Amino acid sequence: MNVKYRRVVRACAVAVGVCLPTLIAGVLGYAHEGHEHTPPPAGQTSAKAYKNIKVLKDLPADQLIPLMKSFDAALGVNCEFCHVVTENHEGFDRDDKPTKLMARKMIVMTQNLNKTQKILKNKASCYMCHQGNKEPIVVPPAQKPGNEPGQPAEQPSASGSGEAGSESVSK
Ligand code: HEC
Ligand code: HEC
Repeated sequence: MNVKYRRVVRACAVAVGVCLPTLIAGVLGYAHEGHEHTPPPAGQTSAKAYKNIKVLKDLPADQLIPLMKSFDAALGVNCEFCHVVTENHEGFDRDDKPTKLMARKMIVMTQNLNKTQKILKNKASCYMCHQGNKEPIVVPPAQKPGNEPGQPAEQPSASGSGEAGSESVSK
């Protein structure tokens, strides 16, 4: 995929319903790259323009593909992760893949976060949790002895002598 496009998407934090207008401006040109379809007319909803829209009904149709590309970037996947795509670039409306069904629920969850959790300042996005991973990393890396939370990283361990301790601090 186009590198420039990916940067725009990343920079934009791939929000659902957040900063899409800015994203669109930079991205529409790439939206149908490799597709023969003409972009849906501006002002039309996704529900009208597409066949099987259950949660993004009110999303302007010309923002659907850019949003889909933001999913790719947020999860580090391509369209086929959620869609069965035929040679003629058809099949996007099909619901065969569990990942697509999961994604619908994730969209609703992310929208709810932005709607109800004001502390997030509308920043909830797929990328916020996924950070380029199919499954978010939810457990911190294993902690090394002497590097417990709340302690300075270079703190001498209990087993170290005073000498060794001052050495490591002076580094
Ligand atoms: C993480 C999963 C996921 C990825 C990746 C993804 N999509 Fe989707 N896509 C969805 C979901 C979920 C819907 C249905 C949204 C709804 O029901 O409101 C959808 C709907 C669509 C539709 C509307 C189909 C119709 O007629 O109803 C198109 C077109 C589409 N995606 C294209 C793409 C393209 C192109 C890509 C890659 C650039 C892509 N998608 C990547 C989850 C994904
Ligand atoms: C608040 C954190 C959070 C946000 C925001 C979030 N996700 Fe997720 N997502 C998760 C977690 C955690 C899992 C793993 C759940 C599990 O283990 O079953 C997951 C799993 C998934 C999966 C299944 C992956 C697989 O390998 O089967 C998909 C698809 C997905 N998310 C799509 C999305 C999309 C698309 C968005 C944005 C609309 C999104 N997520 C936003 C936390 C989040």
